Amino acid sequence: MTDIAKPDTPKDPFHHLHDESYSAAYDTPRIEANTLVALGERPRTSLNGAWHFTLDLFDEGLRQKWFKLEPAPPGAWTHPQDYDPYAGQTLELPSNWSMHKPEWLHFEGGGWYTRVIDHVPDPHRPVTVLRVGAANYQSRIFLNGQFMGTHLGGSTPFCLDLSAGLQEGPNRLQIQVDNRRELERVPMRHFDWFNHGGIYREVDVLRLPAVHIRSTQVDWTPEQGLRVRIRLSEAVDMQAQCHIEALNLQVTIAVQGGEGEARVACHPRLWCPEDPYLYSVRFECGDDHLEDRIGLRHIAVSGTQILLNGRPLFLRGICVHEDDLHLGKVSTEADVRQRFEDARAMGCNFLRLSHYPHHEHVARIADEVGMLLWEEIPVYWAIDFGNPRTLADARNQLHELILRDHNRASVIFWGVGNENEDSDERLSFMRTLAESARAWDSSRLISAACLINREHFRIEDRLTHYLDVIGINEYFGWYEPGFEGLQRLLDNSKPDRPVLITETGADAQAGHHGREDELFTEECQARILSEQVRISASKPFICGIAPWLLYDFRSERRHTVFNGGFNRKGVIAEDKRTRKLGFQALADSYRRCRP
Ligand code: GCU
Repeated sequence: MTDIAKPDTPKDPFHHLHDESYSAAYDTPRIEANTLVALGERPRTSLNGAWHFTLDLFDEGLRQKWFKLEPAPPGAWTHPQDYDPYAGQTLELPSNWSMHKPEWLHFEGGGWYTRVIDHVPDPHRPVTVLRVGAANYQSRIFLNGQFMGTHLGGSTPFCLDLSAGLQEGPNRLQIQVDNRRELERVPMRHFDWFNHGGIYREVDVLRLPAVHIRSTQVDWTPEQGLRVRIRLSEAVDMQAQCHIEALNLQVTIAVQGGEGEARVACHPRLWCPEDPYLYSVRFECGDDHLEDRIGLRHIAVSGTQILLNGRPLFLRGICVHEDDLHLGKVSTEADVRQRFEDARAMGCNFLRLSHYPHHEHVARIADEVGMLLWEEIPVYWAIDFGNPRTLADARNQLHELILRDHNRASVIFWGVGNENEDSDERLSFMRTLAESARAWDSSRLISAACLINREHFRIEDRLTHYLDVIGINEYFGWYEPGFEGLQRLLDNSKPDRPVLITETGADAQAGHHGREDELFTEECQARILSEQVRISASKPFICGIAPWLLYDFRSERRHTVFNGGFNRKGVIAEDKRTRKLGFQALADSYRRCRP
């Protein structure tokens, strides 16, 4: 019995109701690291402020193409429509929608941002680039009803050249952002922080010459002196200049195919926490120039020691999330300065910015105040390690981070992952990340927060072969009662490179007091932190310790009477003011331990 052929029907106006492959149309072109334009101190037009906004749980906007809707007062609508991009509520950027209304706190789905930008052509600066500091997770950009491209990754900046789609006068710019937790994303679906969605860092428009500077990389080694690299927007051959007046240096860079590098011997005043000296550096190329303030320093490993400018370094650290009770993931300069002051008050010289790239002003301020940093991408717990799309996403996030913060002297580590179970797929995935990071930036240490090898009960992981420093997360005293295990682990281990305790600690509810062995008391947390520093710092191969963490933070994984939706391992409560006993215990321990 032959099947009945499907009769030809005119295009069904309701096809979108039946098309579950709708999102494929918005998966390419991808906006990736290669189009990132360095900000430096470039002039820019801010698009922060009011945008029209709506949540879109069912992706109606993509299914029904809301971006095609022309501005019209309801009275002039020719067809009923489910949304009007130019009316209704507005939302101030940068922000997380979770922080706007209690009923939006747990929303995971799409959000639509719309605003009009006015374009005045400028023949000297014909290139108009949209730059978004970060938006969680996938961003889809539409201009005047056209889909322009999409970006993956919730914590790194991206740039999109709007020039081809712009018209003189008003232009309709729309950004759809979805923060769904998906199997192939980085991080995946399960993580111990709050999944704030939306555009939560600055949005700017840059006006640039046809050929402009995309990125610069400046570093220094005692052996090779100063190395300056430049990458342009076009694959052209020309000359560029790098000026460092304070060093009386003017370096000419031969650019070929859009890239150039030059080296020059020099003996700069080296950047370090005690003397965070920054040089004003100016790059010039054709009609474009870029200014930046850059510290020159050298970080290296020798045996099981880390050397900063040739001198042994012990990292007295603390981990921190980008999380705020009132602002969500929005980070302010004042908040960052407070963060560094709190850390410094504990005697810290180092912060682990976990588990994803934090706002770019964090490293700039760290450069200024002399704080050392670990920056990482959220390859966290379970990841779809066998999926090439996931690898491409993770690799791109890493590249965007390195391009963004390469010139930040304070950043000494690139972290390529946290607590990932060992497997062949994981090893190959993270080896690729470690080798990519090294290829993009040979001037920093590559690491990852690894797990203990339970079988041999020692610090051992196949991945460490590709790392400069082994990060270890361990919670002896808390998840594993007692400290014998820690002592045994360290006694059992013979690492051939430095080991950094990248996490340890305990939950304590601020104001909850009791015995040292009573869970969730401040006394218990304080004792665990003191014992951890005492035991770990006694091992010569331990190059530092960064307890988990500075402030309590929101986590939908924690719902005891003590937690109430917060991870309480902070030594300061989520109000970022109330210090627990753990704060002083850590300060005392750091005062006692190795200089
Ligand atoms: C893990 C993880 C953190 C988490 C912490 C905890 O080690 O890396 O993200 O918050 O443990 O359990 O508090």
